[in-house]
Amino acid sequence: MKRSLLAPALAALSLACGLSGSDPIDPGTIPFEPKRPTPGASSQVAPYSGSNVDVLTAQRTYPTGLDLHRKLVMRTCSGTNGVCHNQKEYPDLHTPGTFTAAVGAPCNVQSGTASGVYDRCERLGDRFRFAEQAFREIEVGWFELVLGDTPEELDPRGARPDASTPGLHLYLHDPVPVTQERLNATGTFIRNFIDDQGNVQTLPFASYDTNWWILTDEQGQRRHLFAEVNQYQHDTVEGLVASGIVQGDQNRNGVYGARILGNTVPLINPGKPEQSYLVARLRGYMKTETGTETVPGTRMPLANQPPNVPDMLALMCFIEGLDPSATQWTLGSAIDYNKCTYSVNPSALNLAGSGATWSGRVLPILQSNCGGCHGGSNPQAGLDLLSGSANEIRLRLLRPSSQQPSFQIVQGGQPEKSYLWHKLSGYGSISGSRMPINPLNGNSALPEDQLNDIRAWIEYGASEN
Ligand code: HEC
Repeated sequence: MKRSLLAPALAALSLACGLSGSDPIDPGTIPFEPKRPTPGASSQVAPYSGSNVDVLTAQRTYPTGLDLHRKLVMRTCSGTNGVCHNQKEYPDLHTPGTFTAAVGAPCNVQSGTASGVYDRCERLGDRFRFAEQAFREIEVGWFELVLGDTPEELDPRGARPDASTPGLHLYLHDPVPVTQERLNATGTFIRNFIDDQGNVQTLPFASYDTNWWILTDEQGQRRHLFAEVNQYQHDTVEGLVASGIVQGDQNRNGVYGARILGNTVPLINPGKPEQSYLVARLRGYMKTETGTETVPGTRMPLANQPPNVPDMLALMCFIEGLDPSATQWTLGSAIDYNKCTYSVNPSALNLAGSGATWSGRVLPILQSNCGGCHGGSNPQAGLDLLSGSANEIRLRLLRPSSQQPSFQIVQGGQPEKSYLWHKLSGYGSISGSRMPINPLNGNSALPEDQLNDIRAWIEYGASEN
């Protein structure tokens, strides 16, 4: 009796989790007749009348937005690093419903690493002030909680905190107009929102009462605040960090994305495929008013086939056909390839992008992270990543490793057989340390998005372009 009650619940659970469960429980059937729209029947879309093979392929493969979601978006979602997954749970593009919810939704909301955030995904930050001080609220750039208790010996006349002192570090857009070096005060975080009546409301949503230090940042400005965290304050501070403070400079590069021309890009921008983050991530770059910008993060899902011209054409024509003035979108209607601007000559438009190229992406990562040791007159391990042309450096990597000569440093198409990948990922048995060595603590690793791009470059043949 117990078992039979439990069984359907378990089946439902394993379905909900997407597990292919080893327990052969019959999930049963759901009494539901789907009323799916018939492509083309209800809409006024005329089929494509031209003869371009890419357009015909796209139209055959992806007649509607539903097909696009099922065949293309789900394919990029299912790998370990698809556009759906490497932002942790966000964005969730797994169902047609959550896919349409991505229209107009912000991007990079929960990015794993700061360096993976694209400036144009940054939103206007929340604002900060001291409750006891009369100054205008200042936009939050970013913050970082350095774990541990703040040392007790800090004193304005003695030891001062620096960027690595345990406690809460807050970096603001403008200098704090306070003359003290340290003050005991309540730091308050404030958000603006628009209420039901359309009025702008100001809501202080979090605060922290402690000793605050006003420090100078790398530009010599009093924009770096440091909040002491003692043992009894850990819970309060963790609550504060988890309260979802919006950071105006989430990627910490000094550029406040929402201030660039006053607009940021959403995941899917109705009517504007080129200004949709999803498209930009798949292509590796974003078209802007003034040119193109590289979008950080892996260009395409690993372990999956990258999108080709018809795939990208379908996605772009779908987005172009979304009505920007609508408030809700559905996937059922036919994609209008006939009217789509990209149908004219899709293969000439670099729709699929160029991605993690050697000279555009991989070489700059290696030179800035490794060149200090692997360059100059006596490069470490005989590996010179600085001198010569981009292609000379690339060819140098296609040789056997000096540490483990049975491997090439890079073996095109095979990251697992590339010693460089071993040294960077810690995969396999390496001689010496994982790279890049950090002289301070002896080891370190590149951020995940950079590792992914290097791996993608090797996977796609370690080619020159
Ligand atoms: C602080 C200095 C330092 C930095 C930074 C550094 N390396 Fe190294 N690298 C070394 C030293 C020392 C060795 C030899 C000893 C060892 O492997 O631990 C080495 C060895 C290597 C080897 C083995 C070469 C061979 O022929 O077998 C590779 C590959 C390598 N490094 C790649 C990199 C890459 C890629 C980066 C940057 C992401 C990097 N290193 C950053 C110091 C450094």
